[in-house]
Amino acid sequence: MPSGLSCRTTFFTLLLRYIFPVSAILRNVSIDDTYGDPTTGEHFVYTPAQAWNNSQTCDRCASDPDLGLSFDQTWHEATTPTNPFVTTNATVKFQGTALYVYCILSYFSQFWGNIDMTFYIDGEVHGSFVEYPPNTPNGTYHYSTLVFFTDALSQENHTFTLVNGEVTKTRSLVVLDYIQYTWVTCL
Ligand SMILES: *[C@@H]1O[C@H](CO)[C@@H](O)[C@H](O)[C@H]1NC(C)=O
Ligand SMILES: *[C@@H]1O[C@H](CO)[C@@H](O)[C@H](O)[C@H]1NC(C)=O
Ligand SMILES: *[C@@H]1O[C@H](CO)[C@@H](O)[C@H](O)[C@H]1NC(C)=O
Ligand SMILES: *[C@@H]1O[C@H](CO)[C@@H](O)[C@H](O)[C@H]1NC(C)=O
Ligand SMILES: *[C@@H]1O[C@H](CO)[C@@H](O)[C@H](O)[C@H]1NC(C)=O
Repeated sequence: MPSGLSCRTTFFTLLLRYIFPVSAILRNVSIDDTYGDPTTGEHFVYTPAQAWNNSQTCDRCASDPDLGLSFDQTWHEATTPTNPFVTTNATVKFQGTALYVYCILSYFSQFWGNIDMTFYIDGEVHGSFVEYPPNTPNGTYHYSTLVFFTDALSQENHTFTLVNGEVTKTRSLVVLDYIQYTWVTCL
């Protein structure tokens, strides 16, 4: 059972545990880049907003993955502005003990396209995914690629931020598809 799991004890839950064995139920919830979290209503916040494009409205996107192969048929993408250089961030809140981040990796050289993502949880770096330069031949997309996961979180509210461009500080492309978190509920 994940560390930090705590089930609030009330007379009612004690009674239930007496009748049934104690059980924690693990559920995965997906947060789509566009539609957000169906259970909490939380949505990603994209900064700077004008650096991000989404699959539904962009006409000159750097990259154009197949909607049919994307989760919920949506994605968001950004290339880091370079003059001046700023990272492009995507932030969302969730409550869970594990987190999985899925991106579309885009290998099309005309968009040039390093892959440079740093993953923050509650303001702390928890990992990164960097390909500099990209190490796959020009002309392919890799869909639903797990670029980060952790299963060592406490069951409380967390803030996740994907930061694009922080490691290499050069032009890099991110195509965010969705994240999943594991939510624990107790009988
Ligand atoms: C949640 O999804 C991940 C993969 O995204 C999987 O490895 C894990 O087993 C799933 N957990 C549950 C409780 O379904
Ligand atoms: C993006 O995240 C980085 C790292 O936390 C931070 O330094 C930067 O200010 C953030 N940028 C925006 C526009 O939120
Ligand atoms: C976003 O769209 C604008 C024009 O609508 C374009 O100039 C920019 O390159 C696009 N950025 C990405 C990352 O696709
Ligand atoms: C990469 O592929 C795109 C799309 O097929 C093409 O337009 C571009 O010229 C290619 N670049 C190189 C260096 O081959
Ligand atoms: C956790 O976040 C939810 C909204 O997503 C909020 O309703 C709840 O009050 C928060 N809990 C704590 C302890 O901050």
